Amino acid sequence: MRPLERVPSRQGFFARAVPHSPAPHSLRPSVEPANPGNLLDQIGNTPLVRLNRSADLPGVEIWLKLEFANPGGSVKDRPARNIILEGERSGRLAPGKTILDATSGNTGIGYAMIGAARGYKVKLCLPANASPERKLILRALGAELVLTDPGEGSDGAFRKVRELYAADPDAHFYADQYNNAANWEAHFQTTAPEIIRQTQGQVTHFVALLGTTGTFIGTSRRLKRDVPGVECWSAQPATPLHGVEGTKHLPASIVPGIYDPDLADGNLWIDTEDCYAMARRVAREEGLLLGISAAGNVVAARRLGERLVAEGRPGVIVTIACDGAAKYLNEGFWNDPD
Ligand SMILES: Cc1ncc(COP(=O)(O)O)c(C=O)c1O
Repeated sequence: MRPLERVPSRQGFFARAVPHSPAPHSLRPSVEPANPGNLLDQIGNTPLVRLNRSADLPGVEIWLKLEFANPGGSVKDRPARNIILEGERSGRLAPGKTILDATSGNTGIGYAMIGAARGYKVKLCLPANASPERKLILRALGAELVLTDPGEGSDGAFRKVRELYAADPDAHFYADQYNNAANWEAHFQTTAPEIIRQTQGQVTHFVALLGTTGTFIGTSRRLKRDVPGVECWSAQPATPLHGVEGTKHLPASIVPGIYDPDLADGNLWIDTEDCYAMARRVAREEGLLLGISAAGNVVAARRLGERLVAEGRPGVIVTIACDGAAKYLNEGFWNDPD
């Protein structure tokens, strides 16, 4: 809460919250959006920042794409926008239809935000143990939530959404982010070209944790097409039961239809506790409050960087800050001892 100040008035004094002082420097994005008045055009063109103290690896740079700067607060605004626009273009989404999908939260926030702005109802299936903050945000944006068994994870939500769609296909636009090419194409069309431009083509490695796999597949396909020699590494939680919201341990999950097992140059297995420790470290050493999977991506990037150092190779590693810490601040790990 902001502090109170005493303000003189004719009746004596009254208390009011101290007004925000102006930012010391411009907070405008470095790239002007195509249409500054349109919410959808504010998605993407996110900052790319270099890690300093958390990436103490000689000859190796680690860069983080700050996707929490998107208006819905996550990387998933990109596929949500593309899936909805593609649905409209194809005629499958039209006024009066409800946007329906299974989502661990962030794509749902994107759908709910864009649905509200474009006048569509949004119905989402998600595991009941999704963070309370996500559920509050989704409901605040007017989405209807269908909560599924937490023990079944995102697969339970996926099975439920198919049931709902089968029961009334005409009323719904089933966005199906796990099988919809518009998911990975969003990253092919926007995330990867931004990375190439922001690193001036110097990116040598890309790494990302897998959820629907859209971020990894779309970004890697474009990087591999346009940047000679680039290596793209996927990462996954090391165990089926884990705390890295939004991501999947594929060997024990329904594999998304958009996944391409031949694309990655390698895969790194990530422990939840290492994500928590990295979230604490990056907060204190870089001033960046990361979500858990974003911290996991830094764990993966550092691991790649350590390999490069051991092999005596330089590198420019790029990874994704999928979302920020806001939705996880009530989780207990922030003040654990390291
Ligand atoms: C916080 C978070 N991290 C990572 C991911 C994984 O991204 P993708 O679905 O593009 O593989 C998601 C997906 O919803 C997410 O919400």
